[in-house]
Amino acid sequence: MKIVVTGANGFLAQHLCIYLANKGFDCFAVSRGERRIPIATHIEYTSLDLTHQSLVHAYIHTIQPDVIVHVAAMSKPDECHVNRDACLLQNVTATAYLLDAAEKCASHFIYLSTDFIFGEGGPHAEEDLPDPLNFYGESKLMAEKLVQDYAGPYTIVRPVFIYGKQWEGMRPSFIQWVQQQLQAGKPIKVVSDQLRTPTYAPDICKGIHRIIEAQKTGVYHLAGKDILSPHRMALMVARVLGLNQSLIEEVDSRSFPEPVRRSSKSGLKINKALRELNYQPHSFEEALRKSFAV
Ligand SMILES: NC(=O)c1ccc[n+]([C@@H]2O[C@H](COP(=O)([O-])OP(=O)(O)OC[C@H]3O[C@@H](n4cnc5c(N)ncnc54)[C@H](OP(=O)(O)O)[C@@H]3O)[C@@H](O)[C@H]2O)c1
Repeated sequence: MKIVVTGANGFLAQHLCIYLANKGFDCFAVSRGERRIPIATHIEYTSLDLTHQSLVHAYIHTIQPDVIVHVAAMSKPDECHVNRDACLLQNVTATAYLLDAAEKCASHFIYLSTDFIFGEGGPHAEEDLPDPLNFYGESKLMAEKLVQDYAGPYTIVRPVFIYGKQWEGMRPSFIQWVQQQLQAGKPIKVVSDQLRTPTYAPDICKGIHRIIEAQKTGVYHLAGKDILSPHRMALMVARVLGLNQSLIEEVDSRSFPEPVRRSSKSGLKINKALRELNYQPHSFEEALRKSFAV
C-alpha cells in the first residue's frame, strides 16, 4: 500500500513516516524543506511546497497513493495570528490542492486537525460544536470543512499538545524544552490554569495505522488519557528526569499574557477511538519514560 505523508520534516510526521515504514508500508514523505527525517530504507523523500498547485497535482498523479495523511501545517498559533494570509495559504489552500489531486486517485484522505477548533468547556467529543478561539483554530476548521466535501473516503484526526521522543533534525516538543531549560539551570514560568490531554506521538501513529487498516472514516479524537496543565506536565518531566523542580514557577494565564487566545479547559474525549479503534494510549508518565528512555 502506498501512503503519502505531508509535512514529513515536522514533529508528528517524522514519527509517523518511520512508524509506517517499519510496518512495511511504502511511505512517500513530502515536506517543503530539505530532508530532515532520518534515512530509512522504505521512505522516499521529496521536497514539495504544497502551495504550488501544479506541483502537487503532478506529484500525486505520479505516485497514485492509496492513502494520503495530510499532516503539514502552519502549526504555531502565534505565527498564524500575525501571518494570516500565509496561514490561510498553508493550512487551507494547500489542503484544497491536495484534496483536488487526491480525488482523481480516489485516495483515502486522512487530515490532521486539532483540539483548537473548539472553544472552552473541554474535554470535547467528536460531535461537539466547533468554536475556535484563535486564527490557527479557524484555519484548521476551514480545512476540516473542505475535507468534509471530499468525494472519496476521508478521516479527520484530532490530537492535542503532541509530545514524544526527539532526534536530530526534529524540533523539540514541550517536554524537551522543559528538560533543556532545567538542565541549563534556567527558571521557567508555566501556566497551571489551562488543561489539556497531551498526546504521545507514537499513540497517534498507532491510531492512524488502525484507521488505515480498517478503512475507518469520519472524525476520531486521538489524544492522551490524562488531563493535565502544562505546569503539572513540567513538574512530571523534572521528577522523571531527576531535575530541579524549584526552577518551575507556577503562573496563571492572566499574569502571562499571550497574543493568542487559548482555551482554559481544552482537551479531547477519546471514547470513540477506544471503542472503535481499540486505541490504547499510554499514561503521560509512561510516555515520558519512553520518550526519554528512563
Ligand atoms: N504540535 C501539536 O501539539 C499539535 C496539536 C494538535 C494538532 N496538531 C496538528 O498536527 C499536525 C502536525 O503538527 P506538528 O506540530 O508535528 O507540526 P510541525 O512540527 O510544525 O511540522 C509541520 C511541517 O509542515 C511542513 N509544511 C508547512 N507548510 C508546508 C508546505 N507549504 N508544503 C510542504 N510542507 C509544509 C513543514 O515542513 P518544512 O519543515 O519542511 O518546512 C513542517 O515541518 C499539524 O497539522 C498540526 O496542526 C499539532
